[in-house]
Amino acid sequence: MLQHCLCRRAFGTAVALLAVIALAPAASAQLVRRDVRNLDARGVQAYQRAVAAMKRLPASDPHSWIFQANIHGYPPTDGSDPNWGQCQHASWWFLPWHRAYLYYAERIMRRYSGDPSFALPYWNYADPQARTLPAIFRDPNSPLYDGTRRAPVNNGTDGLSDFIVVQGANQSMANIAFADLDTRVPTFGGPALRQLQHTGNTFGALENLPHNWVHGFVGGNMGDADRAARDPIFYLHHANIDRMWEQWLRMGGGRANPGDRTWLDQTFTFYDENKQRVTISVRQVVNLADLGYSYEGLNGQVAQRAQTTGQANVQQIAATRLPQPRRIDTNVTVGLMPTQQTSTVSQRTPTGRTTRIMLAVSGVEFSPRVDSAIAVYINLPPNAQTRSPEDRHFAGYISCFGHAHHGHAAGTPAGESCTLDIMPTAVRLNQNREWNWNEMTVTLERVCPGSSPSPVSAVLTVREVSLLAQME
Ligand code: C2O
Repeated sequence: MLQHCLCRRAFGTAVALLAVIALAPAASAQLVRRDVRNLDARGVQAYQRAVAAMKRLPASDPHSWIFQANIHGYPPTDGSDPNWGQCQHASWWFLPWHRAYLYYAERIMRRYSGDPSFALPYWNYADPQARTLPAIFRDPNSPLYDGTRRAPVNNGTDGLSDFIVVQGANQSMANIAFADLDTRVPTFGGPALRQLQHTGNTFGALENLPHNWVHGFVGGNMGDADRAARDPIFYLHHANIDRMWEQWLRMGGGRANPGDRTWLDQTFTFYDENKQRVTISVRQVVNLADLGYSYEGLNGQVAQRAQTTGQANVQQIAATRLPQPRRIDTNVTVGLMPTQQTSTVSQRTPTGRTTRIMLAVSGVEFSPRVDSAIAVYINLPPNAQTRSPEDRHFAGYISCFGHAHHGHAAGTPAGESCTLDIMPTAVRLNQNREWNWNEMTVTLERVCPGSSPSPVSAVLTVREVSLLAQME
């Protein structure tokens, strides 16, 4: 049982003990979030009942399906409420905010499901048998159905690719640092911001892949942060992302959550199952045991609990000079101009181990917002026919997910950004004599997160591409 206020911990514990005595054993049992593929009929029905009951409540009710979705993000047509639009993206609070959000939503769902052992299932799309939207979400007569999704997702013909949910996800999990004070550096959990901002600019690795991509793949409500949590699959997607965070910690090798007070002391506000407004801090959500749940199939133990967030020494070694945002219709190739740092870095890499090479794509804007992504290639020959992630020039995907209606906060650069670790690509190209520090090109290609792409009419622009090196 979680205490909402530290000063009441002792009191809360006493109450919890009484509850255990009165209601044993259910009240003390750890709830297990299961792979939706392993959910029995009772578990499926519990989620269906909860969603159906919450959908019946008026939108003004904090327990209603719409109110809960609006806490994440809300369309302007819904008016406004101080509790709405709180989701944290492109920031080191992305993971803890969504964990806390699911925690309270799950408590509310448990109440409406009528099942005291209810726990959210997760959608493990890395499983080759689970690449399509789970069947229980595809029945048009079910409360779990959402008619706004892309048609090939709802009819089960389109599936997530291995490249995104296995290789892409593994690359994200390979990041050792949770966050970095230099917002350009790719990290597992997102850039270390000083204060909350509904959405930052630079995505963390896990947020980029697979998180953002899966939003775009499902499409419809899921493709827009202002409506995403209206789709009942949202909670299973986020349970999986939350599970991946816990699994990442258990992979060891120095992986740990930030120990910084700025991160740990940050609080978020939600409604609980009794319609009480509750405040919870990041510190209270970092250990799953404190929240009373766990995941099926986790491997290993958390070895190290915290690391202090540092600032990597990053130098820009080449960049585009785009006088204005460059429009990408299908694809665009830009040249990189070397800077003074290039020669220093070029003596040490890519064969040396003293630096890490990264490519930052910034000021990415879609107007209007669509479910789209960018594939990035380095030094792609001009006549290259086949473009695929298997190509040796491929450097990664930048997957966008944001708000259709919010402008960017004053003082922050427009558009979204993502930095890719391109060391593997650099090494590959260098071995093939296709790497020359002074003559580099970057090809950006629009891609749709699905094998049957929906027509894309939105304008996509990019402001800058830069090559960065992390010096040790
Ligand atoms: Cu705040 Cu996956 O979204």
